[in-house]
Amino acid sequence: MIPEKAGPAAVIVLAAGAGTRMKSRTPKILHEIGGRSMVGHALLAARSINPRQLAIVVRHERDLVAGHVAELDPSALIVDQDEVPGTGRAVEVALQALDADQPLTGTVVVTYGDVPLLSAELLAELVATHEKEANAVTVLTAVLDDATGYGRILRGGDGTVTGIREHKDATDAERLIGEVNSGIYAFDAGVLRDALAKVTTDNAQGEKYLTDVLALAREAGGRVAAVVTADRWQVEGANDRVQLAALGAELNRRIVEAWMRAGVTVVDPSTTWIDSSVTLDEDVRLLPNTQLHGATTVARDAVVGPDTTLTDVTVGEGAKVVRTHGSGSVIGARAAVGPFTYLRPGTVLGEKGKIGAFYETKNVTIGRGSKLSHLGYAGDAEIGEDTNIGCGNITANYDGEKKHRTVIGSGVRTGSNTVFVAPVTVGDGAYSGAGAVIRKDVPAGALALTVAAQRNTEGWVPANRPGTRSAELAQAAAQDSSSTPASTEEGKQ
Ligand code: UD1
Ligand code: CA
Repeated sequence: MIPEKAGPAAVIVLAAGAGTRMKSRTPKILHEIGGRSMVGHALLAARSINPRQLAIVVRHERDLVAGHVAELDPSALIVDQDEVPGTGRAVEVALQALDADQPLTGTVVVTYGDVPLLSAELLAELVATHEKEANAVTVLTAVLDDATGYGRILRGGDGTVTGIREHKDATDAERLIGEVNSGIYAFDAGVLRDALAKVTTDNAQGEKYLTDVLALAREAGGRVAAVVTADRWQVEGANDRVQLAALGAELNRRIVEAWMRAGVTVVDPSTTWIDSSVTLDEDVRLLPNTQLHGATTVARDAVVGPDTTLTDVTVGEGAKVVRTHGSGSVIGARAAVGPFTYLRPGTVLGEKGKIGAFYETKNVTIGRGSKLSHLGYAGDAEIGEDTNIGCGNITANYDGEKKHRTVIGSGVRTGSNTVFVAPVTVGDGAYSGAGAVIRKDVPAGALALTVAAQRNTEGWVPANRPGTRSAELAQAAAQDSSSTPASTEEGKQ
């Protein structure tokens, strides 16, 4: 397949490091922000510039990382780093793998798997500058207040970049430099290949430093330059969970801001969390404490929140979703859900339908205009249009072994506390009485009652609960009614 806009020859994503400071059984780059793993963000940024090849270097927790990458980006080339440590070695093994068919020419970009806020725009700018200036190496840098730990950018008297010095190898004077290496670069493939062959492990950490390539490229007569970004978040990596949370909050701030600029009202941005995979229409309103995850989409004029969490939910135009926890569901246009509603996967609510307070639903299709207003459970069911399900109705879908379906027609009216013992079918326009237990199919237009005649046992309470308040009141009521049957008011005094 020929890319529409030719990008660089390759992007190499470095992801072999251990990430011990996360103190986690999950590899660092698999930790998520904005609903996506850090390496997922890195792969998307890498793909955004349309490289002819994409390689990712792995070693620590190799199988977990490789498996995750293969799911996200099946055409990414997974390259194993050997026991030689260092970023230089990581790039070298990747380049050898990419060169296997024929040696690469043109631009090779290097990024990190743990720098999740790097944007497509900044990466494209790096490549554009690199190619326009015909550089041998272009490094992405940022000026930080506290540059501790980072490689420092060395510049000559005329300001040209001459090299990078790792913090551990730097002199006190060099440590005062605030401009740091982000670890993201564009290289000329040939220069990179030749320079890496000369990089040694002769340094404070005994590693092959990729950063040594800059000075070697200059020695070979190449031009080395920097793109300086004012946006430090884009080059920041997450090494521990504190940084992970900070990057997650910043990513969310950016996502929320972008949606507001696109016409979404967000009443409280600080308590509104939106995954990068969510899509929203203009004039959507998000009320405080709303979290939208996964493939959730919200159509125009819908109002979501407060206190609502939706994962993979489609919200139709003008719908209202209040205090709801939902996943894998579809809410129709102008439908209403909540408050205190639990939508489980497979719930499909039709246009102008309603699932009200304290309802749980699962695997149920509810037709246009049908209402399940309060207190109940609807699972493994199909409900027609303009049906009203009374308060407290339950689909008894589970016989202890298997699940069964309930089918309820259109224009049905069910009494409070009706129980549908599935499998069972209720025809169009049928009614049920309060407390009905529907074990047999109800034909269209029928009234279903499961009436056990009410029996009152006179005097049962005083006889069986003597001395209780209930018994006292019952006895007083009995005397009143025998002495002054016409006026109970008077009798109370
Ligand atoms: C590196 C840079 C430093 C820069 C900093 C930015 C070098 C020598 N130093 O330092 O100039 O300021 O990043 O964050 O390049 N990795 C591998 N294989 C390895 C070692 C690392 O794939 O053998 C990967 C890691 O998974 C990580 C990235 O490379 O994604 C950077 O590794 P890290 O150890 O964090 O580099 P630093 O020492 O912080
Ligand atoms: Ca690092």
